[in-house]
Amino acid sequence: MNLHVIILAAGKGSRMRSVTPKVLHKVGGKPLLEHVIQSANPLNPKKIHIVYSDDSLTLHKNLKKYSNINWAKQTKQLGTGHAVIQALPFIDKASQVLILYGDVPLVKTKTLKNLLNNIPENSINLLTAKFSDPTGFGRIVRNKTGIVTKIVEQKDASLNEQKISEINTGIMATESKVLHNYLPKLDQNNAQKEYYLTDIIEMLNKDNLPIQGIPTPNPDEVLGVNNKIQLAQLEKLYQKNISSELMDQGLTLLDPNRFDVRGNLTIGNDVTIDINVIVEGDVHIDSNSTIGPNSYLKNVRIGKNVTINANSVIEDAVISDECIVGPFARVRPGTKLDSKARIGNFVEVKNSTVGKNSKANHLTYIGDCTIGENANIGAGTITCNYDGTNKHQTIIEDSAFIGSNTSLVAPVKIEKGAIIGAGSTITSNAPTKKLTVARSKQITIENWPIKKRGG
Ligand code: UD1
Ligand code: CA
Repeated sequence: MNLHVIILAAGKGSRMRSVTPKVLHKVGGKPLLEHVIQSANPLNPKKIHIVYSDDSLTLHKNLKKYSNINWAKQTKQLGTGHAVIQALPFIDKASQVLILYGDVPLVKTKTLKNLLNNIPENSINLLTAKFSDPTGFGRIVRNKTGIVTKIVEQKDASLNEQKISEINTGIMATESKVLHNYLPKLDQNNAQKEYYLTDIIEMLNKDNLPIQGIPTPNPDEVLGVNNKIQLAQLEKLYQKNISSELMDQGLTLLDPNRFDVRGNLTIGNDVTIDINVIVEGDVHIDSNSTIGPNSYLKNVRIGKNVTINANSVIEDAVISDECIVGPFARVRPGTKLDSKARIGNFVEVKNSTVGKNSKANHLTYIGDCTIGENANIGAGTITCNYDGTNKHQTIIEDSAFIGSNTSLVAPVKIEKGAIIGAGSTITSNAPTKKLTVARSKQITIENWPIKKRGG
């Protein structure tokens, strides 16, 4: 049987106090809704139907990349039952249906798979949870023999029902014919004047269909987001989970509480990450590499035996084996460091290649530049790559030596083995294996009338 997934995401989320729709708020750098899609996708659903109200969802770049999404608009938020009805026309009668919430992001694929197993004929598997404080949730009402007879919402619950600690997570697995048969029978006769999806439980029970309430072994997975406090709590849980997974793979984290992944991190063996490191986008760190404290890595590939020293910021770059970067280095998009390159403190590199074993150790700007092997870039070297209108290239060939405080006015080439005297402003190519100096000559003036200065 085909599987169709319905994700409810049309709620206004007014308690977020934000113009951004609730399900686009992020956990671990990813929209809540994307987490749910990624939990569902490994189940190979024929389609994922997202019930939405805010059109910006359909345009979001993170969500556009999923080709199996069908957007079902709910123009008025008349309740969860009404929301599911919006997706129903797109679902054929002989299929399984899994209902998820766009604001419950941490649910695991394994939990969902489990819920899809052994759905009772013509009925429902309900994912439930036991909370010490169940306030606000729908309660699972069971009869004396433990059979689920109905779900009662907080606002409709009697005092006795409010004492029930088993709650409805909202996540359920069923067959489409159950929804096709029972949803049209819903009404709005309740405290919130909504079409409650949960009301079909009582109807099924009355028709003697056995509903399975399956308590989740891990209640953290079914926590939802209604406000910024819960968003922060889920962020913390998510980070804890991801740190644990990475440590299971062998990552050494000096303090998992001071480490954040906002994307996908893959690692080789014996990688060590010091405190306050943030990883964003797609990052790979290969074996035996070390990331110093307070570093920020975004979309970076880091090779083997690399040392990133403290307070380095590296974005959209490739750092090859045995490089040393930082402390206080800024490596900007389009940078490639070949093996054993060294980028030291207060050095900024942008859209440049630094060749094997070349060094820029202090206080330097390298932009739109190609540096060969074994070159040495002295302290205070600046590539003047921008003339106010266009960017220009600087080429520094193998074994060139750039003296300190040099301006390289691009476009310009420093040929193989050329030496540039400190303090030069280089505006034309420097020839190979020669000393080029471009600064005013130092002179000493004899017989300067010192007396004039009163000395
Ligand atoms: C719902 C359940 C409750 C459960 C709780 C778990 C019902 C009637 N109640 O209550 O039993 O314990 O979730 O969190 O089902 N949504 C729409 N369209 C609507 C209304 C809601 O898409 O018209 C979406 C929301 O965006 C959200 C989800 O459905 O993702 C749940 O809606 P919400 O209003 O939060 O339901 P609760 O009252 O919390
Ligand atoms: Ca809710």
